This record gives sequence, structure tokens and C-alpha cells, in this order.
Amino acid sequence: MPQLAVRGGTPVRTTPFPVWPVWGDEEIENLTRVIKSGKWGCLHGSVSGDFERKYAEYHQAKHAILVNSGTTALRIALTAADIDIGDKVLVPAYTFIASASAVIEAGAIPVFVDIDPSTYNIDVQNAEQHITDKTRGIMPVHFAGRPADMDAVLTLAQKYNLIIIEDAAQAWGSSWRGRPVGAMGAAGCFSFQSSKNINAGEGGIILTNDDLVAKMARAHSNCGRSEDGQWYEHFYFGGNSRITELQAAVLMAQFERYPELMTIRQDNLNMLNQELAKIDGIEVMAKDDRITRQSAHLFIFRYKKQAFAHKSKAHFIDALRKEGIPASPGYSLPLYKQPVFLKKAFGPRGRSVDLPVDYESVVCPESEKACFEEAVWFTQNVLLGTEDDMADIVRAIQKIKENAEEL
Ligand SMILES: Cc1ncc(COP(=O)(O)O)c(C=O)c1O
Repeated sequence: MPQLAVRGGTPVRTTPFPVWPVWGDEEIENLTRVIKSGKWGCLHGSVSGDFERKYAEYHQAKHAILVNSGTTALRIALTAADIDIGDKVLVPAYTFIASASAVIEAGAIPVFVDIDPSTYNIDVQNAEQHITDKTRGIMPVHFAGRPADMDAVLTLAQKYNLIIIEDAAQAWGSSWRGRPVGAMGAAGCFSFQSSKNINAGEGGIILTNDDLVAKMARAHSNCGRSEDGQWYEHFYFGGNSRITELQAAVLMAQFERYPELMTIRQDNLNMLNQELAKIDGIEVMAKDDRITRQSAHLFIFRYKKQAFAHKSKAHFIDALRKEGIPASPGYSLPLYKQPVFLKKAFGPRGRSVDLPVDYESVVCPESEKACFEEAVWFTQNVLLGTEDDMADIVRAIQKIKENAEEL
């Protein structure tokens, strides 16, 4: 008689996990107020500016500039921080495409660096090996909401005079040694896209403590205008990357609710880390006391097939899903294996561009292992569940472990 649901056994659970987004009357009231005001654009209303001030204060940053996506935030932040055409920027190979595509959009060249398998964040020692006289920047990605090792990043940046752009798209409120991420380097960028823990459908924000970076980011996001110039005076290049007051109204409500939801996610992340670490063949991310707050956008662990009758990650994830646990395999390729990078298809209509970099020869073993063999994710809505929900996750993994031959 098979035990695993994937072979016809009874699943651990059939009830769904919480859905995202979580919203309430506050979003509706804020939106209604903006609609009735007739001021729907950020050039006319005051909600975007109010949100920027609140967000900057929460992250102990001097400036915040709202834009229409996290990708746009990265692209603008790179240029505003003085990354120039042809400069090289160190980017981890295991991240969302935007971390690297924003570098291309800014006219610079991403150089892929491996990740540390115990954190899934940039491996700073590996980053150092890629530095040449063309390297001008580094983009630590606070992946899953876990701050990158900012001690190591700041030391490396100081040694080689690198500009730091934090990709904090998944790390709202995460902090390193008590300091929120986002304004630890030249600039940091966050996303408010719909899967994110603070959600306005789309949206992004740039944080910085640098007055010039802030001025340039505002200019590049607002048609190249200057804050002290006239409407039809354009001093810099730049498109319209502005956000609407409608999005800012939703952000205000989402942000008010955020600390409470972050606590739930963090508690569940801690509980899963503690319980899953007890299962042979499941390796949780390393504990690091320098991380003082965690947005917990994803819960990640490493699957070791040797402890599961040598069955592949795909088999394990399929089995977990059949037990009623919505697991994800995460990124399926390291970024340098994406067709756009292999072909350097950065020109119009996918035409190759002759850049001094060869993505075909890049190998980042840990990023490949994460994609192909080991990384398993739970998304942030799963982390909004109850203690019993988390216990079901643990039970399901234990059950699969005990019956791994059935996989
Ligand atoms: C690590 C990372 N960087 C950048 C982005 C880009 O954000 P957006 O989707 O808002 O453009 C995302 C989100 O999708 C992300 O997860």
C-alpha cells in the first residue's frame, strides 16, 4: 500500500495556504480618496511624496524616489550612482533577471559571480576574483529577504573603489547589524510588484543617503527635469518612470500592515529552519546573528538527494505538492545560461552586441547546483500560515523522507 500521495496515498493536507495579496478597507479608502481628489499623478498629488518620506524614515535613509518598478529602480540607480557606459558590474548569477538586465539597460556589463551555498547570496570572495580595471560596481542582492554579507561587500567595495547598488527588491525592512538594508552603499532598490510582500501591483523605490544620487535619480525618472527647473526644461536624459498616486495610495495601506505580517513570516521562517534542520538531507540556510531582521520573502532550503534514495529535486517537489505543500523549484537556470546572455542579444530584435565579455564560458558551480539540484522555495504567502500549517510542511517532508523509495 503506497504511503506518498504522489503514488496514491493520502496527502498530508488538502486545505490551501493563505493567498496573496492581503488587503482591507484601508486600501479601498486610500484609493477612493485619491480618485475623488482628481489628482491621480504624482506630479500633482501628495501621497507619493508622503510614502517616500515614510519609507525612507523606516529604512533610515535620507532620500527615497518612487518609480514604476523594481527593474526601473535598478536601472536608474545605476546611472544616478555614476555607473557609466561600458563599466563592469558584479552581479550574482542566482537572482531574478532584472538584477542583470538593469545593468545592460544602463549601458554597463554584468559580470556573473557565484553564490555562497549556505546563504544563496553573493560569494564575495568569488566576486573579488572577477575584479579587473573595468569593474566599477557591485550589486549585492538580498536574496529572499536575507541581507547579503554587507561587512564583506563594504570591505571589498572600499578596497577596489566600487559603487554599491543594493538589489533589495525582496528585502523591505531587512536589516544588517540593526541597520536596514537599502542605503548602505550608493543606492538600494525595492520592488512593489504583485508577488512582493508590499504590493501595489507594480512599483519600485530607490533609497540613498547621497544628495547627488537622489537628485539624478529623480531627474532620470522624470523626463530629465531638475527639481529647481521649469516643466519644459530638460537638463538630463530620462523617460517617464513615475508612479501614480493610485499605486502610492495602495502602498500606504500595505506599508501600515507590513510590520505585523513581517513578524508572522519571520516567526514561521525561524520555526521551519529549526524543525527542518533536524531532517537528514534537508539543509537550511546558515544562521547569522548579524541579520537582525528578515523580510522572509521566500523560505529556502537545500535538498540533498543522497538522503532521499537519490531521487531528483523534481521528484521531491512533485511529491511535496501532491502532499498539499506548494513548493517551488525556484530559478531554473543561472542567469548566464539565459539565451539573452549566451547570445549577448542586447541589440534591437535580439541582435547580438559585441561586448568584451563571454557568457558562454561562465561557470558558477553553486548557482548551477541551486538551480538544477538543490534549491527548494516556499513563497511568502505560505509563510503567512499558522503554526499548524508549518507543522504540516515539516510532516510532509518527514513523510517523503521515510518513504523516499516511492518517489
Ligand atoms: C531580486 C529581484 N530584483 C529585481 C526585481 C525586479 O522588480 P520588478 O519586478 O518590480 O521590476 C525583482 C522582482 O521581481 C527581484 O526579485
